[in-house]
Order: sequence, then C-alpha cells, then structure tokens
Amino acid sequence: MKNLNDLIEEAKSELKNARDAGALKMTEIRWLGRKGKLTDVLRNIKDLPEKERRAAGGAANRAKQEITNAIRDRQGELRNSSRASDLRRNRIDVTLPGRKKAAGHVHPLTKALLEIRAIFERLGFSTVDGPEIETEWYNFDALNIPADHPARDMWDTFWLKPALPKNERLLLRTHTSPVQVRYIEKHAPPYRIIVPGTVYRYEATDASHDAEFHQVEGLMVEPVSPAGGRGISVANFKHVIRHFFSEYFGGRDLRVSLRPSFFPFTEPSFEVMISCIQCKQRGCAVCKRTGWLEVAGAGMVHPNVFKNAGLNPKGLAGFAFGFGVERLAMMKYKIPDIRLFHSADPRFLRQF
Ligand code: PHE
Repeated sequence: MKNLNDLIEEAKSELKNARDAGALKMTEIRWLGRKGKLTDVLRNIKDLPEKERRAAGGAANRAKQEITNAIRDRQGELRNSSRASDLRRNRIDVTLPGRKKAAGHVHPLTKALLEIRAIFERLGFSTVDGPEIETEWYNFDALNIPADHPARDMWDTFWLKPALPKNERLLLRTHTSPVQVRYIEKHAPPYRIIVPGTVYRYEATDASHDAEFHQVEGLMVEPVSPAGGRGISVANFKHVIRHFFSEYFGGRDLRVSLRPSFFPFTEPSFEVMISCIQCKQRGCAVCKRTGWLEVAGAGMVHPNVFKNAGLNPKGLAGFAFGFGVERLAMMKYKIPDIRLFHSADPRFLRQF
C-alpha cells in the first residue's frame, strides 16, 4: 500500500512536468502502457499469497483509476493553457480602425469630365461625339475660317499626310467645334448638346499648354418661329453658363462676365470670365489680381455656320461655347502643370 501511494505521487509529479500533449502521451505510456510501471504492479498481483491478493488488487485498481484521472485532468489543463496562449498571441484589437484596401479609381480628367457631363445632363443637354481625325472643311472652312484667313493662326495644326493625292487634307482636330457643323447637318432644332473630346495643337508645351488636351463644346439651338419659338439669346447662354460654373466650382456667389472677343464661327463672340474661385475677387496670384478668370470661348452661332451645314440661318438662333477640361480641373484642384495629367505619376494620381 505504501509503495502504491509513492507510485501515485511519482506519476502525478511526472504529469505535472509534461508540458504538451506529446509529453503527456509518453507519460501515460510509461505508467499505463503494456510495459508501464503500474501495469507491472497489476501483473505481479497474481503472484501474491491468496489472502493478500484481494486487498492488493483493489488498491492497485484504485491507483490505476487515480492515475487515469490525473492524466485526464492534466490533458484538460494543457488544452486550456494552449488555448490561452493562442488567444494571447493572436490577440485582435477590435477597436483599431479598419485597414482600407487600395482600390483603383478614375483618372482626375475622367472625374472632371463625368462631373461636367452630369451637370449639363441635368440641364437637358445630351452628350455627343465626333472624329478626332477631321477634314479641313469641318475643322476650318465650314466654321467660317477660310484657308487664307488670319484667324487660322489661332489654331496651330497637325496636318496628316493625304492618303491619295487628290483627297481632301486631313488633320487632327484643333478644337471640338467641327462637331457643331456635323450635328447641325443631321438634326432638326431645337436641341442642346455637349461634345467632350480630345483636341490637338501643334505647339510647344509648358505648364499651361499641351499638344494634346480636352475640350467640351456646347451647342444649343432653337427655331425662331411664329408658333412661339423665340430662339436662343445671349441671356439664355449666360444663365446656362453661370449655372454650370457655379455647380462645377461649387460657388453660390459665382459671377459671370462676358467680354467681347472674336471667333469666326460666332457673332457676337465672347470670352467667358468667372469671378476668381480662389480669392472671391479680393485679388490673388491665380487671377493675377484682376479678380477674374477666363474659362471659355463662346458666342451666338454665326449664320455662315448654319449655311455651311445646309440650313437657312433665318429663323434659327443658338449659342455655342467651348472650354478646356484640363484648365477647369487645374483651377478646381490647384494643379500647377497640365503635363501632370499624362505623367502617370502615382503620387499625383493618388490625390484624386
Ligand atoms: N473652338 C474655340 C477654341 O477652341 C472655342 C469656342 C467654341 C468659341 C465655341 C466659340 C464657340 O478656342
């Protein structure tokens, strides 16, 4: 009996030293396995004298039970503590802010264009496009800019090699205005459209000029008819353009001023000025202390443009305008150099 108690104590202290499931299994085999210490004791009982055998058998079985229980207890302890250390190691601080996954987004120019489209579409304008490779006719002549006219110098042109000697000269369109003519030819007024698109100028580049950039053309025409159509006036234009720039730059108190200008395809022609979005006309470097920013060219559609599109200009009135998308985005986001738009520099792009 005394020996058995010692054995139990010995087994228990070994169990305490078993630090993981593997060590525990080894201890179990050492005690209860086929050649285990307690198995040995049990096996020897049959050699005892008859009268001792019964008591010794009972005691040995109780010892076996006790060691079995101790093993199960230790198993439970080990499982709990490994769970606890797992939890400690893989602790999650649920109060930390989430980690944002980097997702792609639209290019700043696309973003500007989508905003511009949305504003005009709310005003009932539909979006139309036209070819970037144009004929001399649509880009110039039809817009009342004959070959020998000095106004052609307003647009430095990339001419394309003619495909055939007798073919009309082709060019990369220098503005989106040729789409005015193409649209007028094929549609009966009234209509209001915008034409966003890429344009090309044969020019040296600098911080505010690029050889390839984007314009949005606008055209709104209505018939003047005895039936009540009053045509489109400068007042209509001023309203539309003020609404547009207020929405785009988000200024309730934005002012618009039309200055006299010249384009062969509009009469009268205007330079559209808006009150400086930077300083609200207190005077700053952006507006060069004038309080005004030039944002678009515009005017009332010239009768020759209707004529060149095959219409009788009598009884038709409309306005047209054109502005640079890069220029607007540069003002809105304070972008210092137009060339950043196609730099593909992620440090630039990430900011939008
Ligand atoms: N096409 C002109 C330009 O590129 C802008 C313009 C468009 C002016 C429509 C008047 C009317 O400078």
